[in-house]
Amino acid sequence: MIVRKNAGELERMRRAGLLVWKILQELAGMVGEGVTTQDLEAAAERMMKDAGAKPAFKNYYVPAAGSRYPFVLCTSVNEEIVHGMPSAKRKLKPGDIVSIDTGVQIDGFFGDSAITVPVGEVNEQVKRLLRVTEESLDMAIGQARVGHRLFDICGTVQQHVESNGFSVVREYVGHGIGTKLHEEPQVPNYVDRKNENPRLKEGMVLAIEPMVNLGRPETAVKPDRWTAVAKDGSYSAHFEHCVAITENGPWVLTRP
Ligand code: MF3
Ligand code: CO
Repeated sequence: MIVRKNAGELERMRRAGLLVWKILQELAGMVGEGVTTQDLEAAAERMMKDAGAKPAFKNYYVPAAGSRYPFVLCTSVNEEIVHGMPSAKRKLKPGDIVSIDTGVQIDGFFGDSAITVPVGEVNEQVKRLLRVTEESLDMAIGQARVGHRLFDICGTVQQHVESNGFSVVREYVGHGIGTKLHEEPQVPNYVDRKNENPRLKEGMVLAIEPMVNLGRPETAVKPDRWTAVAKDGSYSAHFEHCVAITENGPWVLTRP
């Protein structure tokens, strides 16, 4: 069942969404040569504390990993796709890209968003990877309208990514979001006719999150059981927003 949110509930989700946006802006400004992913983690945890918000990811149980996630951020560098774990040993260097993914819970409702940030100068192909991935998210958001169907979102991401020569990850998907971090429906970044294709209705909130590999789409999980990587070692980008479907069109909760 897809839970729909009323206007008051969407306002509460908006508060969570805007805090996530603010945290990501701050972290993006910190990214640079020599900064560690643990530096980003510490800053994020501090901002959540100061705002009186609960981290959404810390202690979140993920069955596939078989344990609770220990950090407030996922920081996935270069060929890492998602669920990279912050570390004081991971110093960022020019030419890297880092996906910063985070969520908070405020007043019972979740917000969840991700950005991928270049460190110093990256090459033209990597710039294009970041641009196309973010564009695919914005184009998919434009499909989040009453009367459209889920596949309009999935297909828009896939079409934009593949027509630019990149590939969409299959094993990790977006999701509904509300009083739980992960709700129905799953929001894949590709169309598979075997999946459900519900009509989009007012009050649904979707976390749309394209994960795009520069090379082949296949993934692997590192021995830490969390970090998902591109099997061919190619760079991977990730952007995410929470979007409410309203009678006035898409409402992106995780940006002003
Ligand atoms: N942002 C991711 C998602 O939307 C990560 C959450 S999994 C966690 O599913 F374990 F890190 F919490
Ligand atoms: Co998410």
